[in-house]
Amino acid sequence: TGVLVLNGPNLGRLGVREPEVYGAASHADLVAAATSWGTGLGLTVEVRQSDDESELVGWLHGAVDAGTHVVLNPAAFTHYSYALRDAAAQVTSAGLLLVEVHLSNPAARENFRRLSVIGEVATGTIAGFGFDSYRLALTALATRLAT
Ligand code: DQA
Repeated sequence: TGVLVLNGPNLGRLGVREPEVYGAASHADLVAAATSWGTGLGLTVEVRQSDDESELVGWLHGAVDAGTHVVLNPAAFTHYSYALRDAAAQVTSAGLLLVEVHLSNPAARENFRRLSVIGEVATGTIAGFGFDSYRLALTALATRLAT
């Protein structure tokens, strides 16, 4: 089973960006980790990153059309992008799984991060475990697909 892992704005800067919040590992490291976790779970994982809202929306449309499950870290778009939310809603409405992930725990940070407009249309959300949030999301997905 193929799974698309989509990372939103500024996640390409992992390792450089606020390492005290997001850690010292790079986006390339995340790609390697997620891909190998996927393989271990019997999933074919493809990771993409974009700072561009319209590109992310297009990738979600593609997932719907291809019948691909999604792990999505919407980054800052989490908190205000109704366009991304409407695209994410099409994924779950199509009967596909969409797991929202965050490296940090937005609930423990600034007030503006408390609201996720994506979480309301996601299958579920995993936050606060660094790269391990992705492993947990992929594991949840594989478990759900096996049952
Ligand atoms: C994030 C949390 C968001 O609030 C933030 O805007 C990000 C990253 C995370 O993975 O912890 O860019 O999605």
